[in-house]
Amino acid sequence: MKELRTLYWKASKLYVLDQRVLPHRVRYVVAVDYRGVARAIKDMTVRGAPAIGVAAAYGLALAAVRTKGLNPQRALERLQRAADVLRSTRPTAVNLFWAIDRVLSRAERAVTNGENLADAVLEEAHRMAEEDVEVNRTIGRNGAQLVRDGARVMTYCNAGALATVGYGTALGVIRAAVEQGKRVFVYVPETRPKLQGARLTSFELKTAGIEHKVISDNTAPFLMSRGEVDLVVVGADRILATSGHVINKIGTLSLALAANYFGVPFYVAAPVSTIDFVRSLPQVKIEERDEREVLEVSGKRIAPRGVRAINYAFDVTPPELVRGIITERGVIRPDELMALRERAGV
Ligand code: MRU
Repeated sequence: MKELRTLYWKASKLYVLDQRVLPHRVRYVVAVDYRGVARAIKDMTVRGAPAIGVAAAYGLALAAVRTKGLNPQRALERLQRAADVLRSTRPTAVNLFWAIDRVLSRAERAVTNGENLADAVLEEAHRMAEEDVEVNRTIGRNGAQLVRDGARVMTYCNAGALATVGYGTALGVIRAAVEQGKRVFVYVPETRPKLQGARLTSFELKTAGIEHKVISDNTAPFLMSRGEVDLVVVGADRILATSGHVINKIGTLSLALAANYFGVPFYVAAPVSTIDFVRSLPQVKIEERDEREVLEVSGKRIAPRGVRAINYAFDVTPPELVRGIITERGVIRPDELMALRERAGV
């Protein structure tokens, strides 16, 4: 089966693969304006840090089309307003903000140079989509050297093609190792409460023909204690260059703690666009989602009526638990991130 595209642009509309209904149904939601894209990001029709960044870029392309006939200053103001709505959808993944800022600065350049605004914004969104796949392939190649033939790798959540435009970050590392002819077995924690592991990662690995099993989240440390895990590779929503902290799906911290206790190398795979070179930990908002996601399973309530829940979507892993960060610029230690900024010119 051919890999499904997370999102694509056709006839001035954005088609978004509806990840809420995978793996049982394959359907696309069509966004005709930036508000539709904002809704798709917020309700997790599209999810995963790089994918929501590129979706937001296309959201701005939809907004730019509607500025036709306005004077350049008014058109830029419209775009700014659309950007504010898109920024307010999910607060934690830095790729969302990175992508919006990149498109806005391209829009400003277009206005200064007297170019067609809508064309310039759409081209930039397309470029970002293409770059995403290229960058992930490079991350995959850089990470594959850490995966030996016969390795049993644990991942978390879904950091695959579905979380990006294609190929994936953590799953990209696994894909690349398999493409090099290595035998790899993957443990897939289900990832409560939204079950991205059980629903999405297993769907991708099944499609790619990569051997794997789904485990309940609380099984992970037990497998590590028995020496049955050789390596952990997860994705990230934001990596703080100022301190080396890694922010990723809630439950990542438990994996990192267990991996370190039992001597299993713990790696993070992410593009440079996931690195926040500016903010420190207190300045980052950790998304809290509707408590019903925890209190219900598939829309059916499991806790007694009236009971409340805590539903942080992400957690923070301290740098000392992270063996390395696999980027398109190579594998680096959390304390080398600031130096990368100079090298990468970002
Ligand atoms: O809430 P989600 O499903 O958007 O969270 C996704 C993750 O935590 C991924 O690990 C992260 O975005 C990296 S995706 C390449």
